[in-house]
Amino acid sequence: MTDVLSAILRALSFVLLFQAAGVAIFVALFGRRLASSRGAVRRLGQAAALAAMVLVAGHYALEAARMTGELSGMWDSSLQGIVWHSPSRAALICRLSGLLLITIGFQGASPRWTIVAVAGAVLAALAFTLTGHTSVNVHRGALATLLMLHLMVVAFWFGALWPLIVASLRETPARASEIIERFTAVATWLVAVILLAGIVMAVLLLPSVSALSEPYGKLLIAKVVGFAVLMGLAAANKWRLGPALVHGSVQTGRWFRRSVAAEYVLIAAVLTITAVMTSFFSPEA
Ligand code: HEM
Repeated sequence: MTDVLSAILRALSFVLLFQAAGVAIFVALFGRRLASSRGAVRRLGQAAALAAMVLVAGHYALEAARMTGELSGMWDSSLQGIVWHSPSRAALICRLSGLLLITIGFQGASPRWTIVAVAGAVLAALAFTLTGHTSVNVHRGALATLLMLHLMVVAFWFGALWPLIVASLRETPARASEIIERFTAVATWLVAVILLAGIVMAVLLLPSVSALSEPYGKLLIAKVVGFAVLMGLAAANKWRLGPALVHGSVQTGRWFRRSVAAEYVLIAAVLTITAVMTSFFSPEA
């Protein structure tokens, strides 16, 4: 029960954290091109960061409960003390500070505020390198660098999808099409980093090829399959729907938003797989 609740909170906190961090990156890269949707995009980033803070704190509080298997473990001060003196504390502080900086950074519209939000996004991603399988491996340094690359590109991609939907609804067709074109021009090259960094991390973490038939390995394969499907959807947006938006057809706009929403749901599913994979299974099992 506590394990399931913890995994649900972790998956939801992943979705909201990468949403918030991604909006910070999106605003830094494309903010100047946003006219009528800039305020709505900033509010989205701020709301996601605030909600992520609640979920991150809730997930941390449940760590003590997971030790006993009972929710009442949450109120056991000695168990909470054990969690507080573990690497989870540094990860919690780093994650919450990052999310707070994102919230503060979206208060203002000037580039200085955007830098604060981006610094928050980096800090929130850095928290992932402080706990988990990559932090206890002999190749810790290389894995931390690869994980940062992996996560910053995930944030860039996932976090941009909702703002792109908002832009397609609020901006003029020409402006929306231009923003989408510029985003896809960068994304086309960057998303490969997710796969490359993921594969190298897997090679460093897994003891042998046969470990791919264990639960951790199977979930890793599920991530690769999810990634391949996502590439198909992203290609449809890049080659067909994005460029067609410039004509302002209502039907094309609808198809574009549906396709981007499908991308969003699929990445959220991969984030959920990752939360389960890293909560319950080990690469060495
Ligand atoms: C859209 C696709 C993807 C998303 C959203 C995603 C997301 C994530 C996240 C959030 C983490 C950090 C987990 C943590 O430290 O708690 C992670 C770690 C990782 N990802 Fe991905 N990932 C994606 C694709 C891939 C692909 C294609 C691979 C290829 C094998 C991969 C391999 C890994 C590995 C090996 C780790 C380290 C897990 C560990 O610490 O045990 N990921 N990913």
